[in-house]
Amino acid sequence: MKQPLRVAITGPAGQIGYALLFRIASGQMFGPDQPVILQLLEVPVEKAMSALKGVCMELDDCAFPLLVDMVQTSDPNVGFKDANWSLLVGAKPRGPGMERADLLKDNGKIFIEQGQVIDRVAAHDARVAVVGNPANTNAMIAASQFKRLTPDRITAMVRLDENRAKTQLAKKAGVPLTSVSDVFIFGNHSPTMFSAFHLAKINGKPLPEKIGHAEWLRGEFQETVGKRGGAIIAARGASSAASAANALVDHVRDLMTPGKVHSVAVKSNGEYGFDPNVWAGMPVKTTTPGSFEVIKGLPMDDFAKGKIAATNKELVEERNTVKDMLR
Ligand code: NAD
Ligand code: LMR
Repeated sequence: MKQPLRVAITGPAGQIGYALLFRIASGQMFGPDQPVILQLLEVPVEKAMSALKGVCMELDDCAFPLLVDMVQTSDPNVGFKDANWSLLVGAKPRGPGMERADLLKDNGKIFIEQGQVIDRVAAHDARVAVVGNPANTNAMIAASQFKRLTPDRITAMVRLDENRAKTQLAKKAGVPLTSVSDVFIFGNHSPTMFSAFHLAKINGKPLPEKIGHAEWLRGEFQETVGKRGGAIIAARGASSAASAANALVDHVRDLMTPGKVHSVAVKSNGEYGFDPNVWAGMPVKTTTPGSFEVIKGLPMDDFAKGKIAATNKELVEERNTVKDMLR
């Protein structure tokens, strides 16, 4: 029997939390032979803690063999204690008519305290994934508080965008989803993101040649993927939850699986012209469980360069908005 992994999750009583916890406890994130201890951190508000209690009752009622223990707390020092993975979901979602960056003022400060506490009390091999929006800049804020942990320990999620892009491409080409590969997201989890269709493949062959429709790939496709979150809010009256939880399962599982190549928002070191010290979506290859290297040197034409410059500009602007919060 493997040693249990300690997985801290913020916002476990929220929408994404409800779609996420059961999948982790059933082994879909860390594998069918990896026991887990869920450390569930909510806000110290009666309604939230009561909802969390109910979710934990349901987890009990699933009798998941891999679920060794659960901790319910509103104290970050308890929630993040010895955590091997911290999944930072807890934050305000946007409503209709808002952009994700409008959440920075309210949500940014959450990531200051959580960054400090994780740095102090999480496990020596701590890994952190940020979902709460605006995810890229929140990861950068939390990392700015690290003294012990290095910035490569914290990533933000653009996997939902990769999954969205892949489905749109498969539908347009009229091929099964499994035929489409190498779909990577560059930049911010916002409408400026670049879904790099020029690198994508259908059955191993360049996708643009197979699919044609250059205008669609540069226009409607980018817009559909970039604005999908807003379209879901408009249709559902609430932001994406099950698909976001699913993307987080993919994000962490692939970061724990050596050899996987996938889109992750990581600290830039200037790759593809991104400003150093923004967290930008890029293709990475998982090297050892929890560690990765950015895939460098992929070809970029003028269109791709222009898109990357625009999403980089937005990330730099977001960083400037919160510069007073950074250490
Ligand atoms: P929700 O309002 O349903 O749930 C959020 C939960 O977080 C609530 O239970 C709340 O009490 C809790 N919370 C708030 N502050 C907290 C804190 N400081 N510590 C611990 N818990 C805290 O929202 P949701 O739909 O689950 O979405 C959560 C976040 O994820 C939002 O910011 C949303 O925009 C974002 N999101 C990101 C992606 C992505 O692809 N990156 C996708 C979907 C949603
Ligand atoms: C999404 O992409 O669905 C989430 O980031 C929620 C949102 O605000 O769009």
